[in-house]
Amino acid sequence: MATAKMENVGAVVMGISKQNGQLRGLSSQSGPTIQSNPFARVSTGGQKPAADSQEGPGIRFGEDWKKSLQLPPKDKRVKTSDVTATKGNEFEDYCLKRELLMGIFEMGWEKPSPVQEESIPIALSGRDILARAKNGTGKSGAYLIPMLERIDLKKDYIQALVMVPTRELALQVSQISIQLSKHLGGVKVMATTGGTNLRDDIMRLDEIVHVVIATPGRILDLIKKGVAKVGKVQIMIMDEADKLLSQDFVVLIEDIISFLDKNRQILLYSATFPISVQKFMAKHLRKPYEINLMEELTLKGITQYYAYVTERQKVHCLNTLFSRLQINQSIIFCNSTQRVELLAKKITQLGYSCFYIHAKMMQEYRNRVFHDFRNGLCRNLVCTDLFTRGIDIQAVNVVINFDFPRNAETYLHRIGRSGRFGHLGLAINLITAEDRFNLKAIEDQLVTDIKPIPSSIDKSLYVAEFHSNNDEVEEHETQENP
Ligand SMILES: *[C@@H]1O[C@H](CO)[C@@H](O)[C@H](O)[C@H]1NC(C)=O
Ligand SMILES: *[C@@H]1O[C@H](CO)[C@@H](O)[C@H](O)[C@H]1NC(C)=O
Ligand SMILES: *[C@@H]1O[C@H](CO)[C@@H](O)[C@H](O)[C@H]1NC(C)=O
Repeated sequence: MATAKMENVGAVVMGISKQNGQLRGLSSQSGPTIQSNPFARVSTGGQKPAADSQEGPGIRFGEDWKKSLQLPPKDKRVKTSDVTATKGNEFEDYCLKRELLMGIFEMGWEKPSPVQEESIPIALSGRDILARAKNGTGKSGAYLIPMLERIDLKKDYIQALVMVPTRELALQVSQISIQLSKHLGGVKVMATTGGTNLRDDIMRLDEIVHVVIATPGRILDLIKKGVAKVGKVQIMIMDEADKLLSQDFVVLIEDIISFLDKNRQILLYSATFPISVQKFMAKHLRKPYEINLMEELTLKGITQYYAYVTERQKVHCLNTLFSRLQINQSIIFCNSTQRVELLAKKITQLGYSCFYIHAKMMQEYRNRVFHDFRNGLCRNLVCTDLFTRGIDIQAVNVVINFDFPRNAETYLHRIGRSGRFGHLGLAINLITAEDRFNLKAIEDQLVTDIKPIPSSIDKSLYVAEFHSNNDEVEEHETQENP
């Protein structure tokens, strides 16, 4: 079914009148774009034939544009139902700008994940959202896609603010925004976090910025200095809101909100809904649309084992794991800065490559290591828990608790990682006599099963190539039944 919509059209898409069965009306409306939901959907019935004229540099009408996309290689890993249990929507169903769709497809995102299906249309309509979703399920796409769709490039001020609790997440989210908006021609995204040079940020804000991705302390500082002008921000997103609304941060967040447009829309994503989130919601959100996709166990798709060792056997045990497992990338957790450095040294001596990061390292250096690891420059990363929030590295298929954590929450944060974007993964816990009670307690609290490590581990549990065949069969079947 084709749809028509009226909206303010940014400079880049100016002049498009038709795309892929969607009609795009040009309107000269100039009021608050984001709040006055401009999306009147009108059914015009029937698929429109593709037009043939040129609509901009290198972009064509009809389906032709898809041919010029530079798609990443297909991801054939088995996915768990928290990313596959969709309603069957397509990104093209949301009347997004063609250029944004190009960015989406070039990210390798073929279809919206469940949290994206729930979020995108509602966020586009201007309504507040309260979403419960874990990371690794397409959460950042769920808010970045509608946010980018609504950026008006004719306006040269800050229009959207994404709040995140950590620098790592800020960098990750800004990287995704930049990639998604690659074809949008000039959406200016800026990340600003504590621990970086304030002067640089001040200079940067002197130029055009449309989207700011920030940690609370730094952006509030810039707002109060009069450097970041957020008075026209109409959409504010909070990622990992449970963390953002913790005691340390909530005052800052409320302060920031007081500077925004009165009619701002708030999208709030959180893995849990502690009292702090509920209180905030009651005070600042207006009839939020609630999304809860967290019924499923968070450890889904991850096979968990323990190996019973003494402290002195740990390195030897790790060495054995390295030689037996088919590790694509691994993250190894220790409980202190010193132990991270020591272990990293040992691993190097054993002849394996590894990076390490911990809290006492310079932020800039940490960022670089993180970035390089993410880009696959090194196979193993040793770290403390500082690294555990909202990091999404799909290539990691094995997580090792070299030191077993003391509580269930930490355990979840560390291990959830190996099942990123719903992929399968392996978690191995080295357990000493002291850890036995914690192991039992964590198993109980998470209602999960951590088994003794078997002498050989089935590769289909965690190695991508070993489950690609099923995928191909499925694809084949769907192609034969149009
Ligand atoms: C870290 O683990 C080591 C070895 O298990 C233990 O001796 C030490 O007490 C632990 N430190 C902390 C801070 O938990
Ligand atoms: C394995 O890791 C590399 C980076 O180290 C990554 O590029 C690749 O996609 C990963 N493969 C799988 C199947 O995850
Ligand atoms: C993802 O986000 C949740 C929710 O805030 C957070 O608690 C957790 O640390 C993150 N999980 C991982 C595995 O990074």
